[in-house]
Parts: sequence; C-alpha cells; structure tokens
Amino acid sequence: MPLPKAELHLHIEGTLEPELAFALAARNGVTLPYADTGELRRAYSFSDLQSFLDLYYALMAVLRTEDDFADLADAYLTRAAAQGVRHAEIFFDPQAHTARGVEIATVIEGLSRALERSEERHGISTRLIMCFLRDESAESALVTFEAARPHLHRIAGVGLDSAEVGNPPAKFREVYQLAAAAGLHRVAHAGEEGPAAYVREALDVLGVERIDHGLRSLEDAELVERLAHEQIPLTLCPLSNVRLRCIDALTDHPLRRMLDAGLLVTVNSDDPAYFGGYVEDNFTAVRDALGLDDETLRLLAANSFRAAFLDEPRRQQLLAEVAAYDFAG
Ligand code: HPA
Ligand code: ZN
Repeated sequence: MPLPKAELHLHIEGTLEPELAFALAARNGVTLPYADTGELRRAYSFSDLQSFLDLYYALMAVLRTEDDFADLADAYLTRAAAQGVRHAEIFFDPQAHTARGVEIATVIEGLSRALERSEERHGISTRLIMCFLRDESAESALVTFEAARPHLHRIAGVGLDSAEVGNPPAKFREVYQLAAAAGLHRVAHAGEEGPAAYVREALDVLGVERIDHGLRSLEDAELVERLAHEQIPLTLCPLSNVRLRCIDALTDHPLRRMLDAGLLVTVNSDDPAYFGGYVEDNFTAVRDALGLDDETLRLLAANSFRAAFLDEPRRQQLLAEVAAYDFAG
C-alpha cells in the first residue's frame, strides 16, 4: 500500500488517457485527428504550457454527456486509489466545455455522480473546484460563475488556470469576490510560468488560501518569507514542471529548497495522463531525483492533509494514518 495522501492539484480533464479518449470518441461519433492511441501518445511532447494546452483543449471534444464526465472521474478515482490517494480536490474547466456547447449542468452533474460514490467505492473523499480560464475575459468568468450558481452546493471552491503570462490574477478580482461572498474556498495557479508578483497578487487581490505551483516564488525572498510565515500551501507538480519545461530536469527541482525554507509544500500530479505519472509516481520520481528519505515523504503526505479543505475529524484521522504508515510494510 502506498503512503496515504491527498491530491490537491489535479485537472480532471488532464486525466483523460488515450484509451478512454478513443472509447468516448467512438461512443459519441467524434473523429480524432490521430490514427490510434500510439500516435496520440507520440504527440505528448511539449515545449511550454501553451503547447500542452492546445492538445488538452482539443482532446476534450470527446467529452459530451453526463456519462462521459462520470466515467472520466471514476477512471481517475480508480487509479488514484491505487496510488494511495485518500482525499482528492478536483479541478474542472467549465468554460472549455460550455464553449463547445456542453451545458455546465452536464459537466457538474456528471462529475458529481462519480464523486458522490467515491468514498464508498474507492475510500477517497472528494471536493470539486471550479476553475476559470485566465486567457478568457473577466466577463466570461462572471457569466460562468452565474451559470454555476444553481450547482454551488456541489462546489467547494474556485481556481484559476490556463495560459498564465499576461493574464494576472487581478483580472479576476470581481468573480473571486463573488465566490468569497458565496462561502467558497479560493485557490489560483500562480508562479508556474508567470512571475512571483502574480503569487503576491493572488494572495492580496484574490484572497487565495493556496497557491497552485508557486514555483517562481523563490525569485522573491520576501515573498518566500511570507509564504513560510503564513504557511500558505503550495501545490507542486514535479513531473508537470519537467514536461512543460518550467525546469530542465527533476534533479533541478526546488522542492527540497522550498522545504528547507519552511514552506508548506505538497506533491501532486496536475494532468497525469499527459505528464507521465499519477501522484505516487510524482512522489517516487522526486524521491529518486532528490534523494528524499522516508520521513521527508511522510512530511509531504502530512502536508497534503494539512493543506486540504477537510473537516477536522477526517483531517486528524488521515494524519494519524500517515503517522502510522510503515515504509517497510
Ligand atoms: N497550468 C495551467 N493551466 C492548466 C494546467 C497547468 O498546468 N493544466 C491544465 N490547465
Ligand atoms: Zn494545474
């Protein structure tokens, strides 16, 4: 049994494996511009975030019905359970679907169907986090938020993703205010390709409780001190960072330096179907590349539950599971 952990940075659309993409394409009569899964997999060679996003959005064409979204989420949860995941906070991108004529209700109800039976089927508690596409307008985010209003009982928080550079957090001040007023949690991608200043802005203008990625925070010593002092969680995604060329090699990953600076860092998979591994694969990869010992891995797992939007009894139960975990067993 792998180390118990929470996954806090996971785009459900990024769990679409080539086999499922072709199965859904056949079910929905959609033609993909690839002959087979092998040819599709060979397209998974990215030069930056945008080159990945182009394929990520294109493949979503196969997701059309509630069943498609439920099957996608259930396939992820099955894999996550085998990787030791006990709690998952799952991002979705409603605008990427509504732009193709898929109703937001179809997306939310389909995902929720899989999430609702997740504890019973997979032993994984779940939360749903609705992300706004930052390369779309602030108006579009507001329209999306209003469209989601009838479904907010299914949504724990809001996030911000897609092309970062040139789309600063402050662009989304208003929709984050509405989310806060509705009692939702707030997170945002920042400092993946964008500067440390975007991390500050996400904290100060959007009031986020966690930073997704936050890699480039290290370029600002004062910011690092603040993140450490306030124990703002960072959801790192090591394999993603290498695949999207945010860093050259995993051996260069700043995870250990971030831990040494007192930051509350967690390890996550981002878009595991595209980046070569699920969350335990990310743990194993950083362990091997950075020479992390068992107690550091235990700390990373404990951090994932500390940073999660969990009720206290379950948080304490899961932290106890981490404390009792036997690496030799
Ligand atoms: N960064 C920004 N947007 C995204 C990502 C990412 O890694 N994955 C899916 N949307
Ligand atoms: Zn991400």
